[in-house]
Amino acid sequence: MKILAIETSCDETAAAVVEDGTKILSNQIASQVEIHARYGGVVPEVASRQHLLSIIPILRQAMAEAGVTCKDLSAIAVTVGPGLAGSLLVGVNVAKAMALANNLPLIGVNHLEGHLYANWLEDKSIDFPVVCLIVSGGHSDLVLMRGHGDYVVLGRTRDDAAGEAFDKAARILGLGYPGGPAIEQAARAGTTSIPLPRAWLRGSSDFSFSGVKTALLRLVDAGKVSSVADGAASFQAAVVDVLVAKTVAAAKERRVKQILLAGGVASNKLLRNWLIKKSPLPVLVPQPILCTDNAAMIAACGYYHLQAGEIDGLDLDVVPSLRLT
Ligand code: KG4
Ligand code: ZN
Repeated sequence: MKILAIETSCDETAAAVVEDGTKILSNQIASQVEIHARYGGVVPEVASRQHLLSIIPILRQAMAEAGVTCKDLSAIAVTVGPGLAGSLLVGVNVAKAMALANNLPLIGVNHLEGHLYANWLEDKSIDFPVVCLIVSGGHSDLVLMRGHGDYVVLGRTRDDAAGEAFDKAARILGLGYPGGPAIEQAARAGTTSIPLPRAWLRGSSDFSFSGVKTALLRLVDAGKVSSVADGAASFQAAVVDVLVAKTVAAAKERRVKQILLAGGVASNKLLRNWLIKKSPLPVLVPQPILCTDNAAMIAACGYYHLQAGEIDGLDLDVVPSLRLT
């Protein structure tokens, strides 16, 4: 069963073909990062227009790479939210047109659920229940997953998402956009640790990252950050410390079998390595290219919805503020 998926929730125009929810036949991504970098962040209208320009070429490339035509497809999956409304609309409208023209089922996918399903592209031996940490530009969700489509949100961020915090800290340190990879790169040269606070929020699985960002800003303004590398390394360590400790604590408390990591921030090596080191349970992490936005994860997720008979009508709409539960 081959599913074609489209992802246009933010600043990547992506299309992929995945077989049986696990085997990637193609995974094409047109990134707009360089276009938005000069503004220091994603400009929504620029993003929508860029999706319009890229979507058809990217779809053609994805189908050519997979060696399929519309006749070989079983369904069209598309991200409906969360994300930028104008960006989502481009993907959803193209998906609808393809579904209508080829009489194929249409499956609307939650982007956050899609991030989780990147793990199914790597490993078929996922054993429920699992605790999942989804860390992206807009979300930091700690979720108990008891089965396909069965989620209990244990905690989420009370202010900045982890990726957002990385992006803001990068700006404070004068590093480029997107901030996560820039901080990770700069941190490699760090030698001296700068004390930064951790918001443990005892007794809760929620996160808060605005305090550590403000603390970094105050220290930079006061000239107390010895170097950009030290600032980056200390900030990265402070964020990762809390993410890892809370995820491991939740997994132990819920007596789950595995931990799943997902979302753009999951491509951070310190987070990946630290979580694997501190967890007494197996930790599954997709390869970096499947952690950041892509359409293969949307196809993988769409497959399980199709299996469950969850198909959408052609009146499918975007939901920019969609949550997991
Ligand atoms: O999942 P994603 O690609 O898009 C959203 O759904 O938001 O995540 C993007 C976020 C950005 O905030 C980016 O700075 C962060 O993920 N990110 C990283 C790394 N790569 C991307 N954060 C830390 N370390 C990285 N290596
Ligand atoms: Zn994402």
